[in-house]
Amino acid sequence: MTSLRLFFLVTLVAALVLAAPAPARRAPSALKKRSFKVPRSLNKNHPRGLNGFDAMKKVAFKYNLASLKEGFIASTKTSDDMITADNKPKITAAQNGTNGTGTVSANPEDNAALFLSPVSVGGQTLNLDFDSGSSDLWVFSTDLPAAATQGHSAFDASKSSTFKVMEGAQFSISYGDGSGAAGTVGTDVVEIGGVSVQNQAVELANAVSMSFVQDTNTDGLVGLAFSQLNTVNNGQKATPQKTFFDNVMGDLDQPVFTADLDPDGTGTYEFGTIDQSKFTGAMAWVPVNASSGFWQFDSASFAVDGKVQKNPAASKAIADTGTSLLLVDQAVAEAYYSKVQGAQNNAQVGGFIYPCNAKLPDFAVAVGPDAMATIPGAAVTFATVDQANTTCFGGIQGNQGAGLQIYGDTMFKAQFVAFNGGNQSLGFGAKPSI
Ligand SMILES: *[C@@H]1O[C@H](CO)[C@@H](O)[C@H](O)[C@H]1NC(C)=O
Ligand SMILES: *[C@@H]1O[C@H](CO)[C@@H](O)[C@H](O)[C@H]1NC(C)=O
Ligand SMILES: *[C@@H]1O[C@H](CO)[C@@H](O)[C@H](O)[C@H]1NC(C)=O
Ligand SMILES: *[C@@H]1O[C@H](CO)[C@@H](O)[C@H](O)[C@H]1NC(C)=O
Ligand SMILES: *[C@@H]1O[C@H](CO)[C@@H](O)[C@H](O)[C@H]1NC(C)=O
Repeated sequence: MTSLRLFFLVTLVAALVLAAPAPARRAPSALKKRSFKVPRSLNKNHPRGLNGFDAMKKVAFKYNLASLKEGFIASTKTSDDMITADNKPKITAAQNGTNGTGTVSANPEDNAALFLSPVSVGGQTLNLDFDSGSSDLWVFSTDLPAAATQGHSAFDASKSSTFKVMEGAQFSISYGDGSGAAGTVGTDVVEIGGVSVQNQAVELANAVSMSFVQDTNTDGLVGLAFSQLNTVNNGQKATPQKTFFDNVMGDLDQPVFTADLDPDGTGTYEFGTIDQSKFTGAMAWVPVNASSGFWQFDSASFAVDGKVQKNPAASKAIADTGTSLLLVDQAVAEAYYSKVQGAQNNAQVGGFIYPCNAKLPDFAVAVGPDAMATIPGAAVTFATVDQANTTCFGGIQGNQGAGLQIYGDTMFKAQFVAFNGGNQSLGFGAKPSI
């Protein structure tokens, strides 16, 4: 799944000044403090996985990084048409076409979610993508035409005795690449890893973009960024609903969830506890500035092979489990690849590539003023570029002056990361072996 969540920054500003969402009631059983785990598994139905080019394109459009997007506009081939039930409004942004007007539709396979975790909504199990870069919990629903739900688990509200319609509420996630979803809203019992929230806002898609339709293993998303990014509204104004994490936070042993991703991208999300056996040394904590709605923090220096250097641009960084790459300020990426024999920034491929047999130095990014999070050289490669596996695409890439550093899976595979919603901070612990 892809998403241009910065697209929502406008919505977000509105949301910030509007009323806080109604509190959800919780199951009595969930009132006992506890923790729980949920696996993240590889999406075997993903049409072909993400290659480097797609991964760059995805993040460029996800965050609407204008400078980065330019290179991809010409390469866009098909539009990501909305599939919608009759008489349902289409998402206007989805028709904003491939004409190079600023929003560009991506190929369906570019958008598919690679990693999924099981979630029960009103007793019906769906495979959802956990995303720390957005805040909507939306699902495929039987309001969609049958053609769109084929191969998916679609939530049927009429078969849930606990579902309640939220009168007049709607949602519309129009990702800047033309993918998206829209529909109605209700509440239901949502259970993840054995812990349930009684009145979780659940967004029922009655329109989804083609990319979601084609990725038959993805039935929706669980947004884990801050609730102010939630797109639910009553037609007149934003009425942002709480995320699952916000609702369950008070019931947990500790108000945290952790992302523990393996090199192949599978792994575990754990809520309520920080498993000390999953990282070596002490966890480095950095305060998060949640005013953007993202898990955003300062990252003003970096290191190549242990040599710490100042990052002159020092753009803010965000931790995003929904992005594949580690996107840093351009000068940082250039500094790194200047130490890689044969590396070049190749516009056609969409970023920095190098011979796969090159020796890759360790890389580190600052997490706050005092700590560094290291990505060992052996964990830097994202994908091979050619069939013969001689040229590799780096998992570290430049943001071309976009003004935001986006730390995705390249970082999560090397760092065990704790998201603390209590004191709004992120904890980083080096994973023992990768
Ligand atoms: C299409 O994109 C352009 C450029 O970003 C924007 O100005 C326009 O409002 C969009 N139109 C629709 C219908 O979303
Ligand atoms: C894109 O171009 C086609 C043909 O050139 C045109 O029919 C269509 O209206 C354009 N769409 C947008 C969103 O500009
Ligand atoms: C936040 O809480 C954690 C415990 O979960 C603690 O170790 C850390 O120091 C705190 N961070 C900040 C920035 O207060
Ligand atoms: C947090 O970020 C916002 C912009 O997103 C900025 O205006 C504000 O000054 C920041 N706060 C701190 C404490 O850095
Ligand atoms: C290239 O790597 C892929 C994935 O690891 C593997 O399946 C394929 O056999 C390799 N091709 C060659 C020519 O080594």
